[in-house]
Amino acid sequence: MSRDRLTPVGKTALSVARARAEESTRADRLFDDPYASAFVEAAPESAPELPTDSEGANRLRHDLSTHIVTRTRFFDTYLLDSCTHGCRQVALLAAGLDTRAFRLDWPDGVRLFEVDRADVLGFKRDVLDAAGAAPRCERTIVEADLSEGWVEPLLAAGFDRTVPTAWLAEGLMVYLSAEDAARLFAAIGDLSASGSRLSFERSPKTLPTFPDWALSMPQATEFASLWKGGLGEDAPQLLEQQGWAVTLTDQEELTRSYGRDPRTDIAWGFLTATR
Ligand SMILES: C[S@@+](CC[C@H](N)C(=O)[O-])C[C@H]1O[C@@H](n2cnc3c(N)ncnc32)[C@H](O)[C@@H]1O
Repeated sequence: MSRDRLTPVGKTALSVARARAEESTRADRLFDDPYASAFVEAAPESAPELPTDSEGANRLRHDLSTHIVTRTRFFDTYLLDSCTHGCRQVALLAAGLDTRAFRLDWPDGVRLFEVDRADVLGFKRDVLDAAGAAPRCERTIVEADLSEGWVEPLLAAGFDRTVPTAWLAEGLMVYLSAEDAARLFAAIGDLSASGSRLSFERSPKTLPTFPDWALSMPQATEFASLWKGGLGEDAPQLLEQQGWAVTLTDQEELTRSYGRDPRTDIAWGFLTATR
């Protein structure tokens, strides 16, 4: 398996896997991702570790890891809650190296679709096959670009637009332009039967997602150079106009409720919507 086929945006999925691998080793872990370390070991140079010898790098490591760990736990709960509320179809947009199909305790009958670019899904398949991983639901992968035509491939793969769906766009919106993000929401709306749910992180568009001190580090700049901002603070209003009831969750409060140090310089939160 070759990490060289991962595009720069595809490599961001490996950094997420590194944080999940580290969390999974903790006695007080908020989730256990048994495959995260296998992804990192398959391409360690694509998920570079931040240096440990500077205050700035340690702050950035804390903030990024807090964000990824908090959001992973939050979205785990969101997806299983959505199933409790009647969703039996799950769509992970920009699934990256998310292994929820393999690690969550899904109820019977769940059909889960993972959409991402071919480079990421190919790398993921190789690593999971080598690990002998078996999904705990009916899992279908869909190779598509979410800023272009992804609806047809999803429908062709068997997605059923007549049943309630739990949508998750974790770690995606910041990589889309405002126009692409608006198109994505419109398409999700067209595919969402009554009872559907949607969740993703929200970050203010008008503020830099990373503070200046973090952007002075090359590891941060590498990611930040890929960001296009998404819809930022416009997302809740746009979704409400499209018939979604929106709930916002503050990251710091959530992290505190998980018993972790909530201090962060990255102003992120979460949006959940129901139809
Ligand atoms: C930071 S990772 C998050 C992955 C995953 N959701 C998670 O949290 O583990 C970002 C993912 O977005 C995907 N991505 C970014 N832009 C995309 C696009 N236009 N179409 C499809 N996937 C995209 C990348 O390939 C990558 O897997």
